Amino acid sequence: MNMVFQINGRDVGIEVSDSELLLDTLRHIGFSSVREGCGVGACGSCTVLVDGKSVSSCLVLTSRCNGSSILTSEGLADDDPVVSQFIKNGAAQCGYCIPGFVMMVSELLSENPIPTEQEIYNHLEGNICRCGSYPEIVQAAMDASKAKQTSKLTC
Ligand code: FES
Ligand code: FES
Repeated sequence: MNMVFQINGRDVGIEVSDSELLLDTLRHIGFSSVREGCGVGACGSCTVLVDGKSVSSCLVLTSRCNGSSILTSEGLADDDPVVSQFIKNGAAQCGYCIPGFVMMVSELLSENPIPTEQEIYNHLEGNICRCGSYPEIVQAAMDASKAKQTSKLTC
């Protein structure tokens, strides 16, 4: 089928088969931050936001996203507070899982700008980091929340 959606703010028109997964579509187009880990919805490494909500792209048919707006971590600015704080806190070891965590933290802070540590852990419970960077990832989320609050006050 022919479909049109937005990826990171740009209109994209493509032809896809009815069975194509969003993970494969995004990677074929060139969004390599979208990574396959488990392939069955259990690790979070393929997470993207569709119309602002996190999805495991390994479980979503591309054809179901016709007309949707998709955000991958390539769509976040270099000075995005979440990206910046992941870097500052050294949250990435191998880095494979990090784009998925970044998208989950971005979603959380848009819904709950000042989450508690427990709320961060709860929101990220579906994402797995095989390197065990959880303390740094949670600290990055807390610092990104603070950075966003500070930038609001100075605007
Ligand atoms: S690859 Fe999609 S959740 Fe693991
Ligand atoms: S940083 Fe290596 S899997 Fe998370």
